[in-house]
Order: sequence, then C-alpha cells, then structure tokens
Amino acid sequence: MASLAVVTGGNRGIGRAVCARLAADGYKVLLVARDPERGRRAAAELPGDVEPVTGDLTTVASVRRLAGELRSRCPRLDVLVHNAGLWPNRRVLTGDGVEESFAVNHLAPFLLNHLLEDRLGRVVQVSAGLYVKGRAEPGRTAVGADFSAVRTYADTKLCNLLTVPLFAERWREAGITIDAVHPGVIRTGLGDRRGPLGWLLKAVKRTWATPEEGAASVAALAAGTGSGRFFDQAREVPLQGPARDRELAARIWDEAEALTAAR
Ligand SMILES: NC(=O)c1ccc[n+]([C@@H]2O[C@H](COP(=O)([O-])OP(=O)(O)OC[C@H]3O[C@@H](n4cnc5c(N)ncnc54)[C@H](OP(=O)(O)O)[C@@H]3O)[C@@H](O)[C@H]2O)c1
Repeated sequence: MASLAVVTGGNRGIGRAVCARLAADGYKVLLVARDPERGRRAAAELPGDVEPVTGDLTTVASVRRLAGELRSRCPRLDVLVHNAGLWPNRRVLTGDGVEESFAVNHLAPFLLNHLLEDRLGRVVQVSAGLYVKGRAEPGRTAVGADFSAVRTYADTKLCNLLTVPLFAERWREAGITIDAVHPGVIRTGLGDRRGPLGWLLKAVKRTWATPEEGAASVAALAAGTGSGRFFDQAREVPLQGPARDRELAARIWDEAEALTAAR
C-alpha cells in the first residue's frame, strides 16, 4: 500500500507543487485546502493519487474539524506537511481573538500535531528564514501587538519554529520525527497586496524561484529520518538567535497549549 502524505495549503503555491512532487514519488496525497472548490480543482489537475480534503486553519474549532476528518480517513499519516501559511497585510483577529497569521502559522500546526500524534510518522514543517527577524513575545505576538506585516509574519514563524525541537523531544520515544525547512524565496501569492506596493512586489517576484523549486527541499524531507533540525532549502543549518532560547520555547509552548486547549 502507498504511503500517505497530507499537505496543508495544497491548492496553490509551494503546497500545490509539494503535492505534485509527493504524488510523483508514489505517495497517496491528501491535499488540504480551505476552499472546497479550489481544493477539488487543484487535486483534479494534479497527476497521481491526489484527493482533496477541506480544512480551514483559522480557528481552534476549524482545526479540530480538520483533525477529525483526517482521523476518520487515515488510520496512519506517514507524512504531514504543515505548509499553509499567511503573510498578513493588516491586523485581523480571528474568532478566537488571536492575530490571523499567528493562528495559521503557529497555533494550527501546534494543535494538529497534538490531535494527530497517535497516528503520525513524520512531520515536515515549512518554516521561513525570516524567523531570524522575529520576536516571540508571549501575550503580545498572539494578538498582533505592534503589528507590521514583515515583523508579524517573522514573529509567527519564530513562534512556530521554537516548538519544533520540543516536538522532536516529545516524540523521540514514539519514533515520530519532525524537521523544519525554509523553502527559499519563491514566486507565489504569499503577501500579495493591492496598490503601488503590490505592483512593485509583483515585479520583484518575477526574479524569484518557482514553486517547483521551493517544493523540492520540502518534498525531499518527507523521506528524512532525522528530527528537530532546520534546513535552509537542502542544507541543514543551526538555529540562530531566539530560536535557540529554550526558556522562551517553553513559554511559547505553554501559551499555545493554553490558547488551543481552552477552546
Ligand atoms: N514564498 C516564499 O518565498 C516563502 C518563503 C519562506 C517560507 N514560505 C512558506 O511557505 C509556505 C507556503 O507559502 P506559499 O509561498 O506557497 O504561499 P501562498 O501561495 O500564499 O499559499 C499559501 C497557502 O496557505 C493556505 N492558507 C492560508 N491561510 C489559510 C487558512 N486560514 N486555512 C487553510 N489554509 C490557509 C492558502 O489557502 P488559500 O488559497 O485558500 O488562501 C494557500 O493554499 C508558507 O508556510 C510560507 O510561510 C514561503
């Protein structure tokens, strides 16, 4: 039987290319998209064994619904790729009262890891090199305090990355592995906006790498066997700055636990 891979944000950008790549590598792929029609279309367009699953990562309730759906469909998730991500243009609070990119980039993978851990084999966390510009401030990052598009995105990616070594430790005995990867600077819709800045960004993006190039390092890690590592594309590199702060990591973990368990 083919190994099963689940990819969030699989309907476009890097996630879609990861789905294509994993399907070509022989995986059965569940492509998670928040919009059912966009998910269906993407899955139908991709060659190989790719099925759509509807899942929104915005709130704790919607993440729980997705986890329930995955649990009912998959006795085992050989590979879970947390790819969905959001670069926010303005501060938006979710129904849970947290900043939207914090919810999607950090809380959703945190909660899915917990809700699915009894059937996980391997987790690939799509991270971002910009985490080095982030600050993770319990109580403030969660609500998008001092919002700025670049800073808030970097903050949420740092929060998420801080949890990766902790999941690696938590899962060591169970044999579940997790690695994080910066896919490169890739020409996708991430952070697209209207107005003059939007046009400028579009022009700059023409020089960036393709989603297929971004997907290569992510998909390659699906077959990885190490855990708790960070990759800059294909190269393993040490974590830098606050991402090495164990005490901060523990506080971010506790906060995520409180924000997800309480709902
Ligand atoms: N592009 C880069 O240069 C770059 C660099 C470093 C890291 N990354 C990371 O790579 C990952 C993929 O990004 P990308 O560049 O491919 O971005 P993208 O083209 O904007 O795609 C983002 C994906 O995430 C999904 N998503 C966003 N919010 C969601 C939500 N609330 N619930 C469910 N799905 C949601 C989107 O769904 P919809 O289509 O419904 O919006 C889309 O499928 C992200 O984690 C990003 O941080 C990208």
